[in-house]
Amino acid sequence: MTTLLTARNLAKSFPRHGGLVEVLRGCDLQVEKGEAVAVTGASGSGKSTLLNILGGLDAPSEGEVVCQGEPLDFASHASLTRWRTVVVGFVFQFHFLLPDFTALENLLIPVRAQREATDRDRERALEFLDRMGLGDRRHHLPGELSGGEQQRVAVARAFMNSPQVVLADEPFGNLDQRIGGQLGDLLFELKETDGTSLVIVTHDQGLAARADRHLHLEQGQLRPVDATEADQV
Ligand SMILES: Nc1ncnc2c1ncn2[C@@H]1O[C@H](COP(=O)(O)OP(=O)(O)O)[C@@H](O)[C@H]1O
Ligand SMILES: [Mg+2]
Repeated sequence: MTTLLTARNLAKSFPRHGGLVEVLRGCDLQVEKGEAVAVTGASGSGKSTLLNILGGLDAPSEGEVVCQGEPLDFASHASLTRWRTVVVGFVFQFHFLLPDFTALENLLIPVRAQREATDRDRERALEFLDRMGLGDRRHHLPGELSGGEQQRVAVARAFMNSPQVVLADEPFGNLDQRIGGQLGDLLFELKETDGTSLVIVTHDQGLAARADRHLHLEQGQLRPVDATEADQV
């Protein structure tokens, strides 16, 4: 196996009540190429903080993040921009689609963050929409789509730039279980066909069980969870 993403000794503190709260403390993570890693943890344990650091949306107080030998330079605007547009794709709990753009246009946003969209990009976006069962919704605005459809567009958008790793933060947390399950199928299918690694934060034990590895964030660090205790975390 080839290691794709490594986070070493991450620490992150936030100011609170005049002091500092340590959310991450000596947190390590290694993700192999094409591997899906599920992260669970109590509310407030730092799961979003960890994902935001892995995605270059927030800087750690200490530690480093490296993708295939390339360190993320949190002090460099160019490094952060490259990281967010090419290295990672994001799926958040709320879709964050642009309301005045159609489904197709929303898929092209990651491309346009880098360069002008070409006919090939449009073809790729349409192919994604077809695969997500949204071919006939391509010209719909997010407000004209159901919650599940909006999140399907958001999932496809995360894969548009062929990122190395897709980071998903409770991606189906606000959808009903059946729709969430279908979206889980699509997410894992895209991961398989594109060979993308996946780090998925979830409270859904079913989704966590589908990952290659399940980690639990507790007291600022990740530890492995085995199948026998999975339903207790
Ligand atoms: N920008 C911030 N400023 C201050 N405190 C924050 C900030 N972001 C997160 N926190 C705190 O850090 C802790 C972890 O938050 P978070 O990573 O969102 O947890 P989780 O995603 O596991 O629910 C929480 O106590 C939260 O209040
Ligand atoms: Mg969170």
